[in-house]
Amino acid sequence: MTGGDSRRQTWSAASYDEHARFVSDLASGVLDWLAPKSGERILDLGCGDGVLTAELAAKGAGVVGVDASEDFVRACQARGLDVRLMDGEALTFANEFDAVFSNAALHWMTRPERVIAGVARALKPQGRFVAEFGGHGNVAAITTALHAVAMRHGKDVRLAHPWFFPSVETYRGLLEAQGFAVARIALIPRPTPLKTGMASWLKLFNSPFFHQFGENFDAAVNETEELLEPALCDAQGNWTADYVRLRVEARTS
Ligand code: BEZ
Repeated sequence: MTGGDSRRQTWSAASYDEHARFVSDLASGVLDWLAPKSGERILDLGCGDGVLTAELAAKGAGVVGVDASEDFVRACQARGLDVRLMDGEALTFANEFDAVFSNAALHWMTRPERVIAGVARALKPQGRFVAEFGGHGNVAAITTALHAVAMRHGKDVRLAHPWFFPSVETYRGLLEAQGFAVARIALIPRPTPLKTGMASWLKLFNSPFFHQFGENFDAAVNETEELLEPALCDAQGNWTADYVRLRVEARTS
């Protein structure tokens, strides 16, 4: 995790590689829905450290990635990928892509109308938008534990849930309002083993929440972990995150 403004989520490509490799490892379902073809132009929205961007490029697609994290963009460019620093809520492409793809990124963009408008602009006619991200009920136990720890200590409970996890109905409505036809959409419960434990997940994915505890940062992480243990840790000490994915394919007209 990088330093900087402690209320802003920041990323370190090295930390992500160590503690969140499962994010790209578990993307085969949404990649199947995308079914990329050689020669297609594809935008990878919120491409992170570029592992899936590289996979799409290896299949012969002309891929452009965008991410709002400077560290991720630097890491992608170092491996020769065409990846640009760009806010997903302010995409600047017009009528350029056969498909827009996104994995595990859209829940960080809390103004989805802006994201969807940018995706619609970026796509050619009959273009497809294929995405997977946190859906309604995602990390519910984790969020509840964070909320409880904030309440106990008089801290800001809003930092316990900085994400956008829509239901099928909500996301379908948002897409249709901007002219997309939804081909398929589903909520998929996907309990996710955390090989490097819960504390590292908490610190990687919600550091702004713990920074509000100042010097008690680690104590707050431990307290959250204690609350979660009965629900998410097995008798052998293996942690599982209570992920629920929203997977969608929609098309422009
Ligand atoms: C997710 O991929 O569902 C997720 C990742 C980090 C924080 C919250 C959700």
